[in-house]
Amino acid sequence: MVRKLAAGNWKMNGTAENLGEVDALKAALPRPEVDVLICPPTTLLSRVAERLDGSGIGTGGQDCHSVRAGAHTGDISAPMLADAGASHVILGHSERRNDHGETDADVRDKAKGAIAADLTPIICVGETLAEREAANTLAIIGGQLAGSIPDIVTGDRLVIAYEPVWAIGTGKVPDTDQIGEVHDFIRAKLEQRFGVGVGRAVPILYGGSVKAGNAAEIFAVSNVGGALVGGASLKAADFAPIVAALQGA
Ligand code: 13P
Repeated sequence: MVRKLAAGNWKMNGTAENLGEVDALKAALPRPEVDVLICPPTTLLSRVAERLDGSGIGTGGQDCHSVRAGAHTGDISAPMLADAGASHVILGHSERRNDHGETDADVRDKAKGAIAADLTPIICVGETLAEREAANTLAIIGGQLAGSIPDIVTGDRLVIAYEPVWAIGTGKVPDTDQIGEVHDFIRAKLEQRFGVGVGRAVPILYGGSVKAGNAAEIFAVSNVGGALVGGASLKAADFAPIVAALQGA
């Protein structure tokens, strides 16, 4: 049985005044039956982790450096995220790939650093609209999976998030056939490379304009094991119904 996961990516949003949303989420989800994660900006990570202590809701980072420590001004290492309370770290988000030119090899090195610090990497893959329109989606996803996932993963130490770049923050969502095609492809690639045991144990999240209104339909698609949620994770009133939909899926 693959554990289901609803992860909220706050991106570059949130200061102390938003911490009330964390309390509200805790109150709305007293005993979550699926894994739930909030990935706040690093400045809030330890405060969010403290508030969520004992709640069954975890915390994650949004990026990390590949090495544990050193002369890298402004960067945050995986052991630092773990020290602040994180259990997971999002890696290779398309916004990092675009804004910071991160390559598959960068993402792979970061994932190695995360695993060495006992964090579970949530490795993001996804095609642009131009790549989809050129019928290159599966080739792009296959290349990103091959290049971004290190050889050292285990089934309980990896999450994949499929986030079509054109669906992020746009309100556009692929139809369920399109989501299913990519998720089945990702599952097949993981099983091919890591064996059926490991490949089947990896949760594959969908991300891109997930809302309370479309979550149940998306969670019913084959090999969708949860969601990576951006905008709708910022408010407990929007995120809790998405978690509820996952619990009911
Ligand atoms: P939205 O849910 O705002 O579309 O963002 C998705 C995303 O990028 C999550 O990582």
